[in-house]
Amino acid sequence: MRVDIVTIFPEFFGVLDVSLLGRARRDGLLELGVHDLRQWTHDRHRTVDDTPYGGGAGMVMKPEPWGEALDALLGDETDALVILPTPAGVPFTQALARELAAESHLLFACGRYEGIDARVAEHAATRARVLEVSLGDYVLNGGEVAAMAMIEAIGRLVPGVVGNPESLVEESHEDGLLEHPSYTKPQVWRGLEVPEVLRSGNHAAVAAWRREQALERTRRVRPDLLPDDR
Ligand code: ADE
Repeated sequence: MRVDIVTIFPEFFGVLDVSLLGRARRDGLLELGVHDLRQWTHDRHRTVDDTPYGGGAGMVMKPEPWGEALDALLGDETDALVILPTPAGVPFTQALARELAAESHLLFACGRYEGIDARVAEHAATRARVLEVSLGDYVLNGGEVAAMAMIEAIGRLVPGVVGNPESLVEESHEDGLLEHPSYTKPQVWRGLEVPEVLRSGNHAAVAAWRREQALERTRRVRPDLLPDDR
């Protein structure tokens, strides 16, 4: 998979060199390009924003540098998906992460300030698919942190990135429930004991216990995830 990121803060993405995604890059599973939007400005101050038409507080990102960035990075390619992180987008979920992990080329356009001039998305949609995506119902200072979270969630679902694909199946949200609690050695720690059933060797009993724990946790913390009959 190829992932391009356009941002005025390319240094944000240095952390993608480390850990699982860093290894995926070195292994050639993930090809990552981080691009400074200001390289597509032409004035002395490398200006990327201006005041909003219609008035109001804050600044809006100018369309021209974004237009040139997309020209340069998309060329005449037709199968790229342009992702605009914005609190006004569709919610980012594990299901969406799975869909996006099957794409061949993602381009994250990270806006700052009050967002990007709306014509950028409109024009991009004439040459590529465009998706506005929100990390959650809160406001960040820009799209960078949201893009980073999405790239991590998507990247680990790309085949080969996580060594044991079975570990992905048992996680929170994969079956619509929150994950059951997990334990490791020692058996007793500070007076707290690992639940007996996990030491029983009875795989069916372990599976049933984990499912009950997942259901209980979901009912308690995220009842909105459960259909009414569960
Ligand atoms: N940019 C600012 N806030 C955001 C959010 N909640 N999700 C995605 N992008 C954002």
